[in-house]
Amino acid sequence: MTVTAFGPGRVNLIGEHTDYNNGLALPFAIADGVRVTAEPLDGDHIEAIASDLGEEDRFDAADPPPAEGWRAFVRGMVAELGDVDPARLTITGTIPQGSGLSSSAALEVALALALLGTDEGLDRIALAQLCSRVENAWVGAQTGLLDQLAALLGETDAALCIDFRSLEVTPVALELGDWRLVTVDSGERHTHAGSGYNERRAECATACERLGVPSLREATPDAVAGLPEPLRSRARHVLDENDRVTQTVAALGRGDREAVGALLDASHASLRDLYEASTPAVERTADALRAAGATGARMVGGGFGGHVLGLLPPGVALPRGATVVMPGPGARLL
Ligand code: GLA
Repeated sequence: MTVTAFGPGRVNLIGEHTDYNNGLALPFAIADGVRVTAEPLDGDHIEAIASDLGEEDRFDAADPPPAEGWRAFVRGMVAELGDVDPARLTITGTIPQGSGLSSSAALEVALALALLGTDEGLDRIALAQLCSRVENAWVGAQTGLLDQLAALLGETDAALCIDFRSLEVTPVALELGDWRLVTVDSGERHTHAGSGYNERRAECATACERLGVPSLREATPDAVAGLPEPLRSRARHVLDENDRVTQTVAALGRGDREAVGALLDASHASLRDLYEASTPAVERTADALRAAGATGARMVGGGFGGHVLGLLPPGVALPRGATVVMPGPGARLL
């Protein structure tokens, strides 16, 4: 049977670079994403067509060899799922790669559902972990679980408060009234396998070793203050960012959108100054959003380029190039 699966991209309201530190984040799935159609094939191969790129791939379904780029995702997914029937996969998407809205996880989860042929009865947390293994082992990006959990567990009208230590996921109603969340593309692209992302992750691991803690979730501000730079700044960002997630959930609960905007700005400043994950193009985009009337603006995703999120109060016109984003459902068959 031919099936088409959709994997959404995600926006992370707040909680950046916390996932691989057993921390907290508050993402939601969006309407843009990736579609994968799987048609059964005779023989023993997988054929994959990346329509937007005009590229193709073909490999043994039982023994996918390693590859680069988008092919690594497809081959890795077939290998990690195991026992996959021969199929022709056609892939199309509406999120530019490396733009901070997680085209990677959108592709992974759409591939997974298309190859499994179902969206029911799945352990979606285990599936997120499998998708993450594809990214870590096949693509070479040491990313955490943020994007995959958002893409698989997304809910209409709610952000997801994720505790990455317990993997507890709590929907948080995103009631903004006449306020709007928008994204603007900085135009700059990254790959997590190639940017500073893996380096930041390694710095956090070194900080944990020095502090003798299993993750930065167990680190105290006093202990962090004794670390050498740049480890001190990296760890401080993570501890503060976890606090900002908790504060954002509280601010949303009491309808205090000004406070949410201030938290977005604080997160951005910390990612720029302590985590050093910003770029001139990202800064210009965030400044332009604030100049256009946004109450707060911050980079989303891994940084080093990509999209910037802004919170617009009522009556502020949509800035040029801005797209309104709101929480939508997670990955599904169409
Ligand atoms: C990327 C990674 C996620 C997460 C964010 C930063 O999107 O894929 O796992 O680490 O960066 O919060």
